[in-house]
Amino acid sequence: MPRTLITSALPYINGIKHLGNLVGSQLPADVHARYLRARGHEVMFICATDEHGTPAELAAAKAGEPVADYCARLWGEQKALADGFRLSFDHFGRSSSPENRALTQHFAGRLADAGLIAEVMERQVYSPADGRFLPDRYIEGTCPNCGYPRARGDQCENCTKQLDPTDLIEPRSAISGSTDLEVRETKHLYLRQSALKGELRDWIVSKTDWPVLSTSIALKWLDDGEGLQDRGITRDLDWGVPVRRGTEPWPGMEGKVFYVWFDAPIEYIAATAEWAHANGLPESAWRRWWREDEGAADVRYVQFMGKDNVPFHTLSFPATILGSGEPWKLVDYIKSFNYLNYDGGKFSTSQGRGVFMDQALAILPSDYWRWWLLSNVPESGDANFTWESFQAGVNKDLADVLGNFVSRVTKFAAARFGSTVPEGGEWGSLEVEAAESVANGIVAYQAAMDAIQLRRAAQELRQLWVTGNEYLQSAAPWTAVKTDPERAATIIRFAFDLIALYAALSEPFIPDAAAAMRKALGLDAAPWPEDPAAALGRLPAGQPFEVPPVLFAKLDDATRAGLEARFAGAA
Ligand code: 2FM
Ligand code: ZN
Repeated sequence: MPRTLITSALPYINGIKHLGNLVGSQLPADVHARYLRARGHEVMFICATDEHGTPAELAAAKAGEPVADYCARLWGEQKALADGFRLSFDHFGRSSSPENRALTQHFAGRLADAGLIAEVMERQVYSPADGRFLPDRYIEGTCPNCGYPRARGDQCENCTKQLDPTDLIEPRSAISGSTDLEVRETKHLYLRQSALKGELRDWIVSKTDWPVLSTSIALKWLDDGEGLQDRGITRDLDWGVPVRRGTEPWPGMEGKVFYVWFDAPIEYIAATAEWAHANGLPESAWRRWWREDEGAADVRYVQFMGKDNVPFHTLSFPATILGSGEPWKLVDYIKSFNYLNYDGGKFSTSQGRGVFMDQALAILPSDYWRWWLLSNVPESGDANFTWESFQAGVNKDLADVLGNFVSRVTKFAAARFGSTVPEGGEWGSLEVEAAESVANGIVAYQAAMDAIQLRRAAQELRQLWVTGNEYLQSAAPWTAVKTDPERAATIIRFAFDLIALYAALSEPFIPDAAAAMRKALGLDAAPWPEDPAAALGRLPAGQPFEVPPVLFAKLDDATRAGLEARFAGAA
């Protein structure tokens, strides 16, 4: 059985995520996980909250809660929303777990033993107004690379360049806005990434099948300007993984923690350990996914993330893995995404602009959102959410095409043939043609899904639904039944076969509708049509069915206008 490890970028703990975050990693990762499970892969699908660092500290302070309590509460909220969106994680962990603490300290110790950690007396920005050292991302200023005026001290979100705060032009505190910043001395650990530059470069160059977005960003930071910089991996903060050298104390580093971007990707591994521990499984159960010497050599590891995360996953995290000198699994394929915009502008967590996961689920069930987001996933460029486009996707694709097909077929069958799938007779030319077109459609759909080309996959899936509608329209059982009831029964049985097929094929995109289709046909499972040419003709005559409740309700103009107005206010 092929084995695939799938991780989604870890959402920060500091609040509910918006739809742009969701479509930029977790949702596409879920489609891939569901698809591969249906195709018979053993899948381990991992996500977690990214809990350390100043964003968590500040959000907790704002909420008036101790940071540990705040993180526990927000983890619960994010977990409930992940369930609401039907994200099928095998485990949704927490980067503040004991497992991650131990593994992060382990990796740091290994890197130190390999001579890849330097102790550096650093001059760091201190803000007297805030009474603290300012972490990189809490210093803002103008990007020296592109001139963007709100670049953060760790990275410019406009041009993706990784920065040091001292690179910024006209820096200020992002917490208080104070420009009264001074530089103080403090000791920090640096990961000597530059020593691994050649190894990293060879590794990235070998990934000829990766999306250009993934490799181009990696190569840009390897080769541009001064090339790969050594990175500080510790911070003067309270909340994080305490700095230790493996299980030993690290002299001179008391009271400091690892930088959140050092421990966060290690949590992919640690969350798999959390999964094993939560299920009472031995250590070998998670290590067979991660250690090449303990069974992971035949695992394919796929990561999903937004483009701003690419440098950390192509350079920093691989540097940790390679530098450890231990046979941990490196990623095999990085699927990265551009941004989803909201109505022509950016989604913004700080400004509350756009639709957030909790708001979305209060408006409509998850399948509506999953379908629009996935059929518009920002794969080849940025995408744009508008209520008009959302309404069109819901009404045209889900209600008019798929929902209408299921409803027409089941209602007509119930009226004419009672409560079981009728026997019918031999297929005619319309069925033969439709079956051939469906077989070709499945091959095309699978090719897109295998390549993780999700926009194309959504189009192929929709086309399969359209084929069913066109078939039904041409076959016209409502006319045939007047003169030739057996012919009408043949058509209806064929159409039921299509519903069973749609239940299988649509599941990765719209799992609730797929379950409703299975339930309507009394099926416990809808197996994947591994032989596309024989995809139809599998549903037995006599199978009891029921008319399901409306799969997808249309979004009317008044409702759409109301939503537009409500969210324009929030912006
Ligand atoms: O950009 C983000 O939202 C980060 N929290 C992603 C972390 S991914 C991983 F490396 F942990
Ligand atoms: Zn820039």
